[in-house]
Amino acid sequence: MKPQAVIFDLDGVVTDTAHLHFLAWRQIAREAGIEINEEINEQLKGISRMGSLERILRCGGAEHRFSQLQREQMAERKNSLYVASLQQLTPSSVLPGIAPLLDELHERKIAVGLASVSLNAPHILRALGISDRFDFCADASRIERSKPDPEIFLAACAGLGVDPVSCIGIEDAQAGIAAINACGMLSVGIGSRLQQADLLLQTTAELSWSRLQRFWQTHRSAQVL
Ligand code: G6P
Ligand code: MG
Repeated sequence: MKPQAVIFDLDGVVTDTAHLHFLAWRQIAREAGIEINEEINEQLKGISRMGSLERILRCGGAEHRFSQLQREQMAERKNSLYVASLQQLTPSSVLPGIAPLLDELHERKIAVGLASVSLNAPHILRALGISDRFDFCADASRIERSKPDPEIFLAACAGLGVDPVSCIGIEDAQAGIAAINACGMLSVGIGSRLQQADLLLQTTAELSWSRLQRFWQTHRSAQVL
């Protein structure tokens, strides 16, 4: 018995853009007189662009200092900085373990999906040279609610035509683990600080089909799906 699909988050799972998001936000925050650290950044993972800006302003007690227009300009500027930093991405920026796992899933005819709320996701997959490895990428522009809402994972499952209960989701964000769990998928967390992941791995280098297969069998073999 095997899963019908494996659905990946992008930033921090497929490639290390989580850090590039942080660098761009740190600059925007500084310009607004706010210092953000890695701990605050953890809370921004999986959160939309505007949602992230709102959290940063709240952290700095500056939620009432900027008009809607100013916020939109800040978010736009953050995106320009971020997109400029994406120029450094090449196929070698795919995190360890991911490319072999994508190959193994392909060989076993297990569908592969992407569930990222990033509007830059298609561009990033192209820069990494792995767009064709994904059978379906949920369209972030049609998503109304960021993670921890399960909407993006449910959209990925619907696009692949699979039942969430028959899928594995992989995430590096606490909000992402909550989203995966909320739709009944099995969750794999990457990183040391995540809670409630069904399987927690320190890095993507520990990912492989044999690891996922063992995980799947332990959690699902006793159940009739
Ligand atoms: C992902 C990242 C978030 C980011 C969001 C929107 O979920 O984890 O940090 O804010 O995508 O990304 P975008 O590229 O559209 O600004
Ligand atoms: Mg992520």
